[in-house]
Amino acid sequence: MATGRGGFSSKLGVVLATAGSAVGLGNIWRFPYITGENGGGAFILLYLAVILFFGIPAMMAEFCIGKTAKANASKAFEIIAPGSKWYIVGLIGVIVAVIILGYYTVVTGWTLEYLFRSVLGDLQGKSVLEYSNMFDDFTADPVRPILWTAIVVFLSYLIISKGVQNGIEKASKVMMPMLFIVLIILAIRSLMLPGAAAGMKFLFYPDFSKLTLQSLLDAVGQVFFSMSIGMGCMITYSSYFKKNVDLIKTSASVASIDTLVAIISAIVIFGTMFSFHMQPDEQGPGLVFKTLPNIFQQMAGGIVWALLFYILLFLASITSIISLLEVVIAYINETWHLSRIKSSRIVSAITIALGVLSALSFNLLSFVKIGGMGLFDFSDFITAKVLMPLGGIAMAIFIGWRMGREEVKNEITNMGKYPVAIYKIYMVLIRFVVPIGITAIFISSLLPH
Ligand code: PFF
Repeated sequence: MATGRGGFSSKLGVVLATAGSAVGLGNIWRFPYITGENGGGAFILLYLAVILFFGIPAMMAEFCIGKTAKANASKAFEIIAPGSKWYIVGLIGVIVAVIILGYYTVVTGWTLEYLFRSVLGDLQGKSVLEYSNMFDDFTADPVRPILWTAIVVFLSYLIISKGVQNGIEKASKVMMPMLFIVLIILAIRSLMLPGAAAGMKFLFYPDFSKLTLQSLLDAVGQVFFSMSIGMGCMITYSSYFKKNVDLIKTSASVASIDTLVAIISAIVIFGTMFSFHMQPDEQGPGLVFKTLPNIFQQMAGGIVWALLFYILLFLASITSIISLLEVVIAYINETWHLSRIKSSRIVSAITIALGVLSALSFNLLSFVKIGGMGLFDFSDFITAKVLMPLGGIAMAIFIGWRMGREEVKNEITNMGKYPVAIYKIYMVLIRFVVPIGITAIFISSLLPH
């Protein structure tokens, strides 16, 4: 088995790096607007159920594969099931990582623009319409968003080229605690605003009439995206876990951190919005770039809150970008036998090229449509709502029906530390509940309704 690949040095490092991958734009930017579009409280309950029954088992499945094989997302399948076609599932995962990188780095670039503007005092004294135009003008600019995207990729490259322990783990150990602190400060501030309670009611009072079949697919897509599962990222990270890492504890910790950050971010955003009498539905992806700057400016000390918010978004994004890069770097490094530095450079160049396309989809390339969607929206749709859940089904089938019983049992029970009953429950989830459940949701969302 491949040695000299390096690995995470401690259990804390494992949890922070893995949570660093999970916590990202998905939690702070995507979760609030998807929850807003699906009517609030009831969607959150649905989301929690999907995490419990699909998300955690799927994350454990990936951990099992990566920790056993100690190889990149595609090779891991080759090692466990030699001579089979399963490696294709991992290969698709690598491609999904590339597609996500293409638009994720662009949105992270937007956060840098807004961070910069809040420092310059540019997020002040404007009307609702002016903020909306400001964002539209910025994304319509063919150059500026691309420059920011390149800066984001360069910063990520600086981290990732240092390797797993000195790059990913170290960066996560610094950035994640910073992120938690900033998030908690913002949440306290938001809850203290007059009228924030209406936002909390929207978030936590379940109105089931707002849910549709589409909400179910939205919840599945959001869980897979948010937990970085279904495309080999967790296979890649767990290939750097030491033997003694407990998969149940790790997946439970990462899922809890990820969910807490999503819910606290929604508290920050909805508390603030309702306090200023803004409605969350119909805001979509522009929510944190159009609506929030306008609200921040009306708050006492507004610039500081805006600055903190965009720092939060940036920290969360960078630790996710490095995990996406790592999926591709590990693949290139181990398949094409190129050095880590060379692999990092190739992946960074590909990411910038795709970032250019996705940034241009807001202006020069806005005429390009795939299935009625622009390039940017299509990338989000095809990854979160299609390829990641499909990858999750495939990996569940692999663990449930293909991988050796004893190997899975040893990993899940942590060499017999947990009772066999836990393994048995896990097998029911991974063999039946995950694949059948997600397939059913897929089919029903495709039916006319
Ligand atoms: N989980 C990240 C987020 O919620 O923003 C997105 C992501 C990162 C997806 C890494 C997939 C991945 F491999």
